[in-house]
Parts: sequence; structure tokens; C-alpha cells
Amino acid sequence: MVTQELHSAEEMQQFGFDFASKLNGGDIVLLHGDLGAGKTTLTKGIAKYFGIDEVVSPTFTLMQEYELKDSCLPAGTARFKIERLLHVDTYRLENEDQLVEIGIEDYLGEKNTICIIEWPEKIETLLENKKVIDVFIEHSEQGRRIKIED
Ligand SMILES: Nc1ncnc2c1ncn2[C@@H]1O[C@H](COP(=O)(O)OP(=O)(O)OP(=O)(O)O)[C@@H](O)[C@H]1O
Ligand SMILES: [Mg+2]
Repeated sequence: MVTQELHSAEEMQQFGFDFASKLNGGDIVLLHGDLGAGKTTLTKGIAKYFGIDEVVSPTFTLMQEYELKDSCLPAGTARFKIERLLHVDTYRLENEDQLVEIGIEDYLGEKNTICIIEWPEKIETLLENKKVIDVFIEHSEQGRRIKIED
């Protein structure tokens, strides 16, 4: 378990940037945290690592897909090339079928895609039997505390 205090939005983004360097194609990252915890800020840092400078909030569209300009092979024990980032926000989701209709199942765990999901608690059925990376963000005296389970 990794635990770290992040004192500002800038530090949160930097943490996301560094975290992204450890991701592999097929990874599903679940961002747990209350309203305003910093989930989107962290996602911006992850996106930046993959060369995406502008993250559009998927609060209304539910999911936003980014094709990477230069697909990248992760460092270390790389498994699959990363070609796409999917950013999902289920805050306004009424039922899981809405995401199925717009094709989320083509992406979840797909070997060349990294999925980042805000409010994953709302899509438990879709995530059943999927290997995920859980990230917990909570408010703390110093800003935010982030915990990542190994
Ligand atoms: N470590 C931090 N310390 C202080 N402020 C932060 C930190 N990380 C993010 N913030 C700020 O918190 C606010 C909310 O951030 P953000 O929109 O990323 O949260 P969120 O979890 O995505 O919210 P929502 O639940 O609405 O989707 C922003 O103003 C952001 O700049
Ligand atoms: Mg958000």
C-alpha cells in the first residue's frame, strides 16, 4: 500500500503523472473519493503523461476516449502497447446499461486501453471479475491523502 499526502492540485497532478508511468495496457484504475476529492485532477496528470494536454470532463457524456498520438510501450515488464485512454465519470449515471449502450465493454480491460473511472461504486456489475487498481483519495489537514493498494 502506498500512502502519500498531496498539498495542492499541482502536487496531485504530478502524482498522477508519475503514477501513469507505471501503468500497462489493459489496466483499469478506480478512483474512489468524495465530491471534490481530486479525481479529475489526478486524471489530468495521468493524461498529461500520455501526451494529452486537455481533459474534457465526462460528467455529462459519461465517458471520454482519447487516442494517443504516439502509442507508447510502458517501461519495465511491459505487456501491451498503450494506444488509448478512456476516462469514465459515472456521477450522473442512472443505470449501468447506459454505459453498455455507448460501448464501454469494448474498452474495459482491453489490452491497448487504460481506463480511469471516477465513482466506480456505481458500476459494480460491469467491474465484476475484472482486475482493477484501487486508488483512494480523501481530504486531509494538509490537502489530500492518497492511498493505492498493491
Ligand atoms: N491535493 C490537493 N490539495 C488541494 N486541493 C486540491 C488537491 N487536489 C485537487 N484539489 C482541488 O480540489 C478541487 C476538486 O478537484 P477535482 O475536480 O479534481 O475533484 P473530483 O474528485 O474530480 O470532483 P467530482 O467529485 O466533482 O468529480 C479542485 O479545485 C482542485 O484544484
Ligand atoms: Mg471529477
